[in-house]
Amino acid sequence: MAITCTHLSAASNLREMIQRSAQHAQTQVSLKQMVEFGSKPSPATILRGTQFLQHELPIRIAKRVVELESLPYNLSSMSSIRTVTEWYYQSFADLAAFPAPEDFGIPRRLLREEKDAKIAFEDRKIHRYCNPFEDQTSLKGVNEYNAKFMECLKAIKQRHDPVAQNMAQGIQELKNHWRTTKSNPVLLSSSRHMDMTARAFKRTRPSLYPSQLLKNPDAANNLLPTDLQSFLDRFYMSRIGIRMLIGQHVALTNASLGRSTSSTDHVGSICTKTSIRNAVTQAYDDAVGVLQNASGVLNPPKIKLYIGSSTCAKEDVQFVYVPSHLHHCLFELFKNSLRATVERYGLDADGEYPPIKVVVAEGNEDITIKVSDEGGGIRRSGLPLIWTYLYTTAEKQELEKTRYSDFRAPMAGFGYGLPLSRLYSQYWGGDLRVISLEGFGTDAYVHLNRLSNSDEPLL
Ligand SMILES: Nc1ncnc2c1ncn2[C@@H]1O[C@H](COP(=O)(O)OP(=O)(O)O)[C@@H](O)[C@H]1O
Ligand SMILES: [Mg+2]
Repeated sequence: MAITCTHLSAASNLREMIQRSAQHAQTQVSLKQMVEFGSKPSPATILRGTQFLQHELPIRIAKRVVELESLPYNLSSMSSIRTVTEWYYQSFADLAAFPAPEDFGIPRRLLREEKDAKIAFEDRKIHRYCNPFEDQTSLKGVNEYNAKFMECLKAIKQRHDPVAQNMAQGIQELKNHWRTTKSNPVLLSSSRHMDMTARAFKRTRPSLYPSQLLKNPDAANNLLPTDLQSFLDRFYMSRIGIRMLIGQHVALTNASLGRSTSSTDHVGSICTKTSIRNAVTQAYDDAVGVLQNASGVLNPPKIKLYIGSSTCAKEDVQFVYVPSHLHHCLFELFKNSLRATVERYGLDADGEYPPIKVVVAEGNEDITIKVSDEGGGIRRSGLPLIWTYLYTTAEKQELEKTRYSDFRAPMAGFGYGLPLSRLYSQYWGGDLRVISLEGFGTDAYVHLNRLSNSDEPLL
């Protein structure tokens, strides 16, 4: 149910509304549904999308508020986390206070029935049959309403830009506290019931567990307890989803108002002909730019790109995807590979670095991109750590001094590159895996679901 002003004043208790909304199930959407829904963004379609988001966003946001308020290890009371909670509260309140279409004078006949609220992306039939815009007055009203809602969404998205930074600050404080008091629960729990993260460590390096784990300063300082790690995975996955829905709706609303300049291959932020070749070269070029700024290397490692197989090489592969999500993953992988290669061979080897090999395989279900470097690899006992938020072997970046909403620009040092990239690839039904050959190099596999039929993995 969309929450309206009337409901807000009647309930008068935002907290209660949040608790109630958090009980509802989230409605996951797939890439395919998004493309079908947004391919002809008429004002009527956008109105349906507006109604869908008025139903869906409060539920997603409320779930995060409830979780943020009940975090373990006293995280909920940390000021950086409290600020994030307040932003979620505020955004819920903004949506709750937004006038319902009826209050805005939109005729009822143009609106989706309440019972249809959950099938916004599947109600094209209803839309096709009702052909509501025979009179220009209602069209003007609908456009105004859609535009107003778009402004509300833009403000919410902007408010949440620094969320990742604030969350990281909280986790960093907690890690520092555990380090100084030697009280990381992963290590404490290893003697009692075994934490899952510790178990992963045991699996990859049984001979070192638990005695060496306790002595391994990297592990001791960086392993996050499973409950915290899974909360962060859930939290960031939800954030990717909310931002995707908002970004998409804003782009489609602009298109419906005739303000869009994007090409015919685009449905909002989705490109129906996302070019793997362009994505790889663009991400590599951007990563090289950052490397050169950070280190002054003149001739960085090159890339060798192979698309298809040796018997059937291809110029390019195109598929339906969100280019910015693909860029995120590849950019992070190239930064890691470039850094590892340059650190291993040293700045003196400028111009003689082994290349980074990129292989693109096109299957029926998946397109897989393998990024292989010869940067020396990662030791096996270190592998469970690489998916841990804030684990880095680079010099730590100072969180307070940065203004990056998703830790994208710096070369390394946030320890967010791999965990966030994995979420981005999983969001559309893919995955990211890393295999290390210690002493040689690292292979990262980005699996992309080319069927675009997978629902968002929200919890
Ligand atoms: N290709 C690679 N070769 C060697 N080590 C790597 C590679 N990719 C990742 N790592 C290790 O994993 C750590 C975490 O990577 P990441 O999540 O991208 O964070 P960051 O790059 O900020 O350190 C790195 O600090 C590095 O120690
Ligand atoms: Mg990185």
